[in-house]
Amino acid sequence: MSYLVLARKYRPQKFSEVIGQQHIVSVLKNALKANKVWHALIFSGMRGTGKTSIARILAKTLNCLNLTEDFEPCNKCDNCIEITQGTSVDVIEIDAASNRGIDDIRSLRESVKYVPVKCKYKVYIIDEAHQITDAAFNALLKTLEEPPSYVIFILATTEFNALPLTIVSRCQVFHFRPVPTSVIFNQLKNVVIQENKKDKITDDALNLIADLSTGSVRDALSLLDQILSLTEVYNVVNISIVRQILGYTSVEVVHKYVELLTTAQPKLLFDYINEIYYSGIDLLQFSKDLLEFFHQLLYKKVSDINSSVYNVDLFKDKFSTEQVVAIIQQLIRLSEEIKRVEYPKTLFEIYTLRLTHQYKEIDELIKLIEQQKEVQPTQIQQTQQSSFVQPQLNSTYQLQNNQVSYQQEQQNFQPEDFWQKLLEIVRIEKPLSYPILAESEVSLSDDTMTIFLPNKYLLLSLQMQNLNLEKIIKENFGKTIKVYYDVKQSEKMVFKDTTEQLQQNQQQTQQKTVIIKPKKIQQTDPVVEKICSIFSGKIVQQHKKEDNIQ
Ligand SMILES: Nc1ncnc2c1ncn2[C@@H]1O[C@H](COP(=O)(O)OP(=O)(O)OP(=O)(O)O)[C@@H](O)[C@H]1O
Ligand SMILES: [Mg+2]
Ligand SMILES: [Zn+2]
Repeated sequence: MSYLVLARKYRPQKFSEVIGQQHIVSVLKNALKANKVWHALIFSGMRGTGKTSIARILAKTLNCLNLTEDFEPCNKCDNCIEITQGTSVDVIEIDAASNRGIDDIRSLRESVKYVPVKCKYKVYIIDEAHQITDAAFNALLKTLEEPPSYVIFILATTEFNALPLTIVSRCQVFHFRPVPTSVIFNQLKNVVIQENKKDKITDDALNLIADLSTGSVRDALSLLDQILSLTEVYNVVNISIVRQILGYTSVEVVHKYVELLTTAQPKLLFDYINEIYYSGIDLLQFSKDLLEFFHQLLYKKVSDINSSVYNVDLFKDKFSTEQVVAIIQQLIRLSEEIKRVEYPKTLFEIYTLRLTHQYKEIDELIKLIEQQKEVQPTQIQQTQQSSFVQPQLNSTYQLQNNQVSYQQEQQNFQPEDFWQKLLEIVRIEKPLSYPILAESEVSLSDDTMTIFLPNKYLLLSLQMQNLNLEKIIKENFGKTIKVYYDVKQSEKMVFKDTTEQLQQNQQQTQQKTVIIKPKKIQQTDPVVEKICSIFSGKIVQQHKKEDNIQ
């Protein structure tokens, strides 16, 4: 008999065998118990999460001749067997990727008229339903709304948003979730036990497979299939064999490169890059692996979490958190750019140079900032007294403190001014945070401020610099403002969300919200310049010398 791939061999045949979709199974079972299954269902969700499997189980449950008390199919009666084998004339699976046109849907509409041959229900499982053309969907509308009582439609799709609303509103929708890594791991473990291979593969190898499948049980089982075939070559497959097979750079190579980085000697690094390049290591994969390494190192430094792959302990004292964040930012760019260039080795070398510079420069920068801090306390005091806080805030404001709103104060206390002044204070008190905030868009209302950061690593960076804006605002302006951070996904998204949120806010609180965009300016301050070069940032606002806080 030909080999049956694991993903098919372990297809769940009853509800209790389905993993990670309990929310769907329980709703369906309740509907079955109450005899209230809708006539048109949508199963939406990522690939390999159980849509087709549950559709078939439901078809069996509806037609099983010996349904169990627990509303599971018996899997033994004729109907169950035929549906499992895919030979039932009453359970029809249609691949909409190849039957998407109006003629296909017309013939489907015709066939719906005929009563089931053997089963109680005729079940149409339409896979990749989003591929159906608009005209064909229109032809289906009426049938979907009022199908004969013996017909059930199940539309399965990985792209829910591509379905027309007219279709969605006529169906009961079930959203399948990506299955958590730990749940997939348990499933893989069960499979290797049943396959009598549990001593042939280690748990950390299974964990890596579960992790790589990012929520798709089918992907996990397919990968396991490939890996298990290696047990004929290796006695036991462990995580480093899996990594090697999947094309990851070996842990030793990553460790050695990082070690060389700490020497900050470009010559040694270039020789090593040469060596690994000509040994056939893919530099894109290597960049991603380095990114993963530093990501794990960051976890180690911030939360003391150890990596299951790398020996991050070895490096945790050799890099400051700022260095790790800066390196991660560079590596993200490298892994993006390296896909597009003709000479990946050259690009890799350039980035290596940058990384070595950063490694050295961040130390210098921290020293520079320390020096600045030593001279600045008196300047800050003067600022608080003379520059803007007192003149700007009238006595009413100071007396009533938190209760005073922008509306009352608007003529003296414009949100834009407020933000600029806050930035000035941050520039002195938290110089590393300044360029990040200055580059961010801000939404400011009476008592809340949301800062939209360009990416999540900057958010991480702010957290690590212990920036407490609420405290700074309270101390310098005597005002209580809740500060939220958000990561700007894309211009379009944020605008949409922000406006929606603003509208809601305005309706709820009648407050005025102002959006402040970052400004573009020239670059002069050496510390800021250095920060920009290290973090690959840019200066977005700078005041003239005479405007500076003295
Ligand atoms: N929730 C699950 N529980 C148990 N096994 C699952 C689950 N989801 C997927 N599988 C495994 O993956 C295989 C494929 O699953 P299925 O065909 O149901 O996925 P699907 O969601 O329809 O995917 P696609 O969108 O690619 O059609 C199954 O045979 C089974 O081995
Ligand atoms: Mg499917
Ligand atoms: Zn049965």
